[in-house]
Amino acid sequence: MAENTAAPVREAWATKIGLVLAMAGNAVGLGNFLRFPVQATQNGGGAFMIPYLCAFLFLGIPLMWCEWAMGRMGGARGHGTTPGIFTMLWKHPLAKYLGVLGLVLPLGVVFYYNYVESWTLAYSFFSVTGKYFGIATREGMSRFLTDFQGINSPWHVSLTAYIFFLVVFSLNVWVISGGIAKGIERLAFIGMPVLFVFGILLMLRVLTLGAPDPAFPDNNVANGLGFIWNPDFSRLTQSKVWLAAAGQIFFTLSVGFGAIQCYASYLKEKDDVVVTGLTTSMTNEFVEVILGGTIAIPVAFAFFGRDITLQIAQGGSFNLGFAVMPAIFQKLAFGQILGTMWFFLLFIAGITSSVALMQPMVTFLKDELGYSQKKAVAATAGVTFLVAHVAIFGLKSGALDELDFWAGTFGVVLLALIEVLLFVWVFGPDKAWGEIEKGAQVPAPRFFYYVLKYVTPVYLAALFIIWMVQQGPDVLLMRGVSGADAAWRWAARLSLLAVFGCLCWAAAKSDRIKRICEER
Ligand code: PHE
Repeated sequence: MAENTAAPVREAWATKIGLVLAMAGNAVGLGNFLRFPVQATQNGGGAFMIPYLCAFLFLGIPLMWCEWAMGRMGGARGHGTTPGIFTMLWKHPLAKYLGVLGLVLPLGVVFYYNYVESWTLAYSFFSVTGKYFGIATREGMSRFLTDFQGINSPWHVSLTAYIFFLVVFSLNVWVISGGIAKGIERLAFIGMPVLFVFGILLMLRVLTLGAPDPAFPDNNVANGLGFIWNPDFSRLTQSKVWLAAAGQIFFTLSVGFGAIQCYASYLKEKDDVVVTGLTTSMTNEFVEVILGGTIAIPVAFAFFGRDITLQIAQGGSFNLGFAVMPAIFQKLAFGQILGTMWFFLLFIAGITSSVALMQPMVTFLKDELGYSQKKAVAATAGVTFLVAHVAIFGLKSGALDELDFWAGTFGVVLLALIEVLLFVWVFGPDKAWGEIEKGAQVPAPRFFYYVLKYVTPVYLAALFIIWMVQQGPDVLLMRGVSGADAAWRWAARLSLLAVFGCLCWAAAKSDRIKRICEER
């Protein structure tokens, strides 16, 4: 049989609403409910919203449109991931290797994300069964968390945590095996409405809480909202705050990873990206700022007051979500129900994101190497399962933070910079803008044409340089890290490098990518 040189028939989203929910599910994740409130509290409260809004306007929105347009353009020719898409933009042998970043970064996140997601499912069960009820202090719940994780046991993982990981991992594989419309879209169709309802109910519960302890009338929700939104403008002169705000925008909108292009590649050629992309981004922002900003920190303030809430925020996202919140649920009427809602909401937020993190590799293997769905899912699941163990066993030693840093903080700025340069400057600003506007229900404001051309690349380059100068040497050389911690952090780095190397080799072997260079 003659080889089919035309793009093979690709899957597509079944419905418009399903696409919007799936894209919203991709963006709305643990980042919205756990990462955002802690970042805002640590970086100037209300003042954080200024760099956050700047990053949303000058990085988030323009990059999101680029990624949707690039994905749709690639998908129309059978290339749903960045190795192929970058080669379409820049017919150079190097382009595909740059594009491999768009496979490795989502994998780097999912290597640890699935594990954290499995805690949320475990805690949903613990809430239903009332397992942690009776341990009413924060300290007690912190101990419950470390015992559950098994951090201090010989293997640094408990059997319960490992079993929940296996369950959640299998659920993820099951969803992606179903494909785009029958797996991911269906999950979003059922999950996202539940997430919205639970999120709104929890927010309303927090808002009607008043002052839970009459002995401390100042510890109330209104002051809690004042606390998270209290602007500390002096922080705006610190570059750290600007870096944190940009980092949060990338993470929460899922831009700079390669994951949006992959979902967008299953659009139809004439589908709109301007309005639909903006809709899903605004949905994400609503969930993040309104729901994420109202639930965890204000409720902690109402129960524990200002000083302790500051400490809690310094203790990080996991402490807030898995120790402080369950301690609070025990003090509330219907605490078991509220606890179940909170953790199940996190689980849905998590799983609709983790499938988005695994899909790029699946799509790549199918599009560029001609793998069957089964084989592509099996290969992706195999790699993800293997490297997840670095995050699991190395949790105590900071392996999770190391993966998060390279994939979720450093890598995204780099990939975002590469993709704007290729799309806007190599492919050409007018052609890029034309791609964005194609099929648009409402034209994108011309203002963003100039933002894309000048502001976004300069903003990204500035972030990159500031980071390199201020934190680069310490991080790269792992100053102050030694012993087991250093070993696990190196294991995380080397795993990422190994995955990068293998995928580069796969991209080099792909005839379908080679053919792009020969066309026209
Ligand atoms: N946006 C997700 C969150 O907020 C994380 C994510 C990043 C998901 C990249 C997919 C791709 O948790």
